[in-house]
Amino acid sequence: MDVHVADHPLIAHKLTYLRDKRTDSPTFRRLAEELMTLLAYEATREVRVEPFEIETPVAPTTGIKLSNPKPLIVPILRAGLGMLEGMVRLLPSAEVGFLGMQRNEETLEPVTYANRLPDDLTGRQVFVLDPMLATGGSMADAIRYLIDRGADDIAAVCLLAAPEGVAHLESALSDTGVPVKLVTGTIDERLNEKGYIVPGLGDAGDRLYGTV
Ligand code: PRP
Ligand code: URA
Repeated sequence: MDVHVADHPLIAHKLTYLRDKRTDSPTFRRLAEELMTLLAYEATREVRVEPFEIETPVAPTTGIKLSNPKPLIVPILRAGLGMLEGMVRLLPSAEVGFLGMQRNEETLEPVTYANRLPDDLTGRQVFVLDPMLATGGSMADAIRYLIDRGADDIAAVCLLAAPEGVAHLESALSDTGVPVKLVTGTIDERLNEKGYIVPGLGDAGDRLYGTV
C-alpha cells in the first residue's frame, strides 16, 4: 500500500483548528471540506485520463480529459459526507456512491447499514472518503467490498490516521493484488483504550453534525 502523508503548512494549519474542541460545527464542516480539496490534489495524482484534440484560438493541440468509466467517489456515512463537497469541487463529473458504516463502540467492529453503489465496479477507479482511520476496520471493510465488486484502483482519503489503522489496512488488503493508496492529512500518535485517535479530534460525525 502506498501511504502519502500530506506535508503542507496550510493543511497543518487547518487541521489545528479542526482538532480544537472550541471549533463549532459550521466551522468544522467548512474546514473538513477545505482540507478535502487540498488532499484531493494528491489523491487524484494518478486519476485516469486520455488525450483528446482541441483547437485554441491560435492552433490545434492535444489536451487530456478524464477517461471513461468516470471515477467513483464513495463517502462513508456519516462523517465521510463532510468531505464529499470538497472532492466533487475538483472532480465534478465523477459519479458518487454511498456506503453507510457504523463502528460498534464496544467491540470496535464496523457494521454496514446502507449501500447505494453500482453493482458492477469492473475497471473503476474509486476514491473512498472518511475523515478518521482509527482501527482501520471500517476502511478495510469498505475497500474490500469495492474490490469484490470489481474496482481495480483505490485511493482512500482521510484527515487523520492512527498508526494502528494504517498497519491494519496494510495487512488486511495485502492479498487483494489491487493498488491501494492512502492519502492522509497526518498520522497521529496512537489509539486510546476506547479506540479514539490521540490527540485526534474526537467524534468526527458528532462534531460535523452538532450531535451532543
Ligand atoms: C467513524 C469514522 C470512521 C470510523 C473509524 O465513524 O468516520 O468511519 O469511525 O473507525 P475505525 O477505523 O476504528 O473503523 P462512526 O462509526 O463513528 O460513524 P459516523 O460516521 O456515523 O459518526
Ligand atoms: N471515530 C471518530 O470519529 N474519532 C476517532 O477518534 C475514532 C473513530
